[in-house]
Amino acid sequence: MGNIKIHARSIGYLISLKKLLCDTTGNLLVKKWKSIEKGDIVSIEEHMLPEVLRIQAEGFKNGSSEKLIRYSKNSKNIFYVIKNVDEIVGYCAYYIKPALSLKGFEKKSVISSIAIDRNFRGRGFAERLLKSSTEEMKANGISSVLLYVNINNLPAIHLYQKIGFRKIKQVKNICGQSEKCYEMELRLV
Ligand SMILES: CC(C)(COP(=O)(O)OP(=O)(O)OC[C@H]1O[C@@H](n2cnc3c(N)ncnc32)[C@H](O)[C@@H]1OP(=O)(O)O)[C@@H](O)C(=O)NCCC(=O)NCCS
Repeated sequence: MGNIKIHARSIGYLISLKKLLCDTTGNLLVKKWKSIEKGDIVSIEEHMLPEVLRIQAEGFKNGSSEKLIRYSKNSKNIFYVIKNVDEIVGYCAYYIKPALSLKGFEKKSVISSIAIDRNFRGRGFAERLLKSSTEEMKANGISSVLLYVNINNLPAIHLYQKIGFRKIKQVKNICGQSEKCYEMELRLV
């Protein structure tokens, strides 16, 4: 019994250590980030946050504002905002996920959240936001972009497929308690 407890605790430490290493490597990569010219798509600034949080609340039933605030501080370079003239109409927040595979060390990114103001949907803003930001990901050596989308969110699934994302597998409890979602991936190299 004692051995099982020690074993479980060691696994717990290893998982925490792996997460810490991934977070630290991810943060270092974001600090060295090279931005490319993207016109009306810019990195988030503190004064934009209230508008971004409003768009998030409008787009998601259970969106975590704490998470977005954290990304806007720690991963500012890869938290993109799209404007229509001077008005903020949408955002897309990423984080970096270093990964070890048979191919060696790979830099992947994950879309944590994307939404467009309800009044500006259907006008190509999300498509432009994704195309420009994934182009910048590629220029920074990111090998693929991952995301999780609820299997019933057809507008978003159509959008991702149009950009070139492919469904990888179906998973549970990532998009919400007991909810099913697809893991989708866009290969950049
Ligand atoms: C999903 C979302 C980001 C799309 O933003 P958008 O700016 O309206 O999308 P775009 O105008 O750029 O559309 C690009 C493509 O996406 C697909 N699409 C967008 N809205 C769609 C809809 N209502 N029904 C079907 N397909 C749709 C289409 O393929 C479209 O291309 P087309 O116009 O040539 O048909 C937006 O609906 C939104 O903010 N939803 C709430 C938040 C959300 O669900 N985020 C995704 C979480 S994983």
